[in-house]
Amino acid sequence: MLKTIRNLFKSGHNQTISYKGLNLPNFRTNQQLSSNEDYLNSGIEQVDFLKEKGLLTNSSKILDFGCGQGRLANTLEYTNTPFSSYTGIDTDKKSIDWCNKNLRYKDAYNFIHLSAHNARYNKRAEGLQELPFDKDSFDLIFLNSVFSHMLTNDIQFYLNQFNRVLHKNGAVYLTAFVENDVPDVEENPQNYIAESTGALHRVRYEKNFFISLMENANFRLHGFYHQQIDRTKQSVVILKK
Ligand SMILES: C[S@@+](CC[C@H](N)C(=O)[O-])C[C@H]1O[C@@H](n2cnc3c(N)ncnc32)[C@H](O)[C@@H]1O
Repeated sequence: MLKTIRNLFKSGHNQTISYKGLNLPNFRTNQQLSSNEDYLNSGIEQVDFLKEKGLLTNSSKILDFGCGQGRLANTLEYTNTPFSSYTGIDTDKKSIDWCNKNLRYKDAYNFIHLSAHNARYNKRAEGLQELPFDKDSFDLIFLNSVFSHMLTNDIQFYLNQFNRVLHKNGAVYLTAFVENDVPDVEENPQNYIAESTGALHRVRYEKNFFISLMENANFRLHGFYHQQIDRTKQSVVILKK
């Protein structure tokens, strides 16, 4: 009986839904995106924003760090957005296996599993690993809801990696929980947005402290949009070198 339930869960994780010519994951790691329409619209809002700000062009080499189940890749495909290359990387092997099976719509899409420790998403991995890319490999590094599940040391590590692999004219787009008049960093703060469940559900940063982390990694703040992602109340931060 237990085995049957386990198998059902496993197959649910692997199942794919066909929607508007796309392959969407049946089991979703994103909260609040169980509706297919919301799933797609959440990506369209971000892609429109990137285009409007000139951060995503037909020559963009995109790194989708913490790509999960490739929500951004599906959006690029749906909106027929021109770009040069897309690389999704994630510590969750099941997500990357699913992406490789379902989202290689064209050769420009690549998905890489890199096992890195995260107390929420990959507890078993040991430590963090350098990104397997050469200097200046990307023009746009996109992180949706990834730094929102990381403590300071991990963020500092990845910012230094991003600085190495980002071209000098490139940009980082990230979302995070960033507020004024709060402690510098707090994991799962009480009375904030909604109840948190489990390790690193919501890691909230004080705005000046958060920006100082970016500046210490030789980035400059190019744009800050408080709680721009209405669904999660995460802020959007744009960084340039
Ligand atoms: C909330 S999900 C967001 C997924 C995706 N960015 C999206 O918008 O649909 C956070 C993702 O970050 C990934 N992640 C967390 N820590 C990571 C790390 N150190 N390296 C790579 N991926 C990581 C998780 O495995 C998970 O897929």
